[in-house]
Amino acid sequence: MKTPIIIDTDPGHDDALAIMFAVKSGIFDIKAITTVAGNSTIENTTRNARYILKLLNREDIPVYSGSAKPLVRELIKAVVHGESGLEGIDPKNESNLTNDAVDKIIKIVKENKDITLVTLGPLTNIARAIEKDKEAMKRVKQIVIMGGAIKVPGNKNRVAEFNIFVDPDAANIVFNFPIKKFLVPLDACNNVQLQLEDFEKLKGTNLFEPIVAMMKPYIQNIFKDEGIKAALMYDPLTVYYLFNPSVCNVKEYDIKIETKGELTRGMTVAELRNSQKDYNISVIETINGESFKKDFINTLRKYH
Ligand code: RIB
Ligand code: CA
Repeated sequence: MKTPIIIDTDPGHDDALAIMFAVKSGIFDIKAITTVAGNSTIENTTRNARYILKLLNREDIPVYSGSAKPLVRELIKAVVHGESGLEGIDPKNESNLTNDAVDKIIKIVKENKDITLVTLGPLTNIARAIEKDKEAMKRVKQIVIMGGAIKVPGNKNRVAEFNIFVDPDAANIVFNFPIKKFLVPLDACNNVQLQLEDFEKLKGTNLFEPIVAMMKPYIQNIFKDEGIKAALMYDPLTVYYLFNPSVCNVKEYDIKIETKGELTRGMTVAELRNSQKDYNISVIETINGESFKKDFINTLRKYH
């Protein structure tokens, strides 16, 4: 029985790899891909999502475009993905914006039992869906969120991870919403670093050339921006939690989102004192990097 999911995403190099992994894994019934502005504009993230599905020969998976900007703030885009959001490939296909991601998320959740939401970008679409139809969104089985930094520094400011930083008001709505929530933060992602040679194993598959074309600038940009010479796998690791939870350590936390701070905007403020009693989210604190790398590459090599 495949796991029914919606992937909400802002492709983005690591989003692109996460979508490839989710599709190739064969374990998900991907009801839709919904796009959000974050790594790049909504036009680019939607164009890029369509491009990746075409590469995978899975244009049967519907793409619904969503929010062009955060709930309240102006959009602050990422730098490591380049102007197009997929530097190295820079897709030229049409975006074909539908501007109906929020309504489609609500519709799919209403029509299906046990939907899992996998969020790989800012939480704007999800927050808007909650605000529009709370009763429907309570039907969501679980939400698996790439975001946050619990016991490590941020990657967008000293304390905040990018997805939460871009739309902290949306994150605040989602983190306070009473559905089962999982968080894959920087704590679990920082140490899982791939190099170009790791992708060499894909030689001979139709994904090899486009992935190498993407990973070269992605690695260079991360080195310039974060001083790490590697491809960071934030979003693929988020999908990987659903693929192989047995190699992940999970701990319950009570986390609040900093929406007011100037220096701390977007901080995921975890209650770390031993007085912790109330939990609102399950945090994936560690993921076995070697297991991920093996399963990730082997899955991308698979033909479907
Ligand atoms: O902080 C990493 C997250 O921000 C990833 O989802 C990446 O794609 C960017 O959106
Ligand atoms: Ca992303």
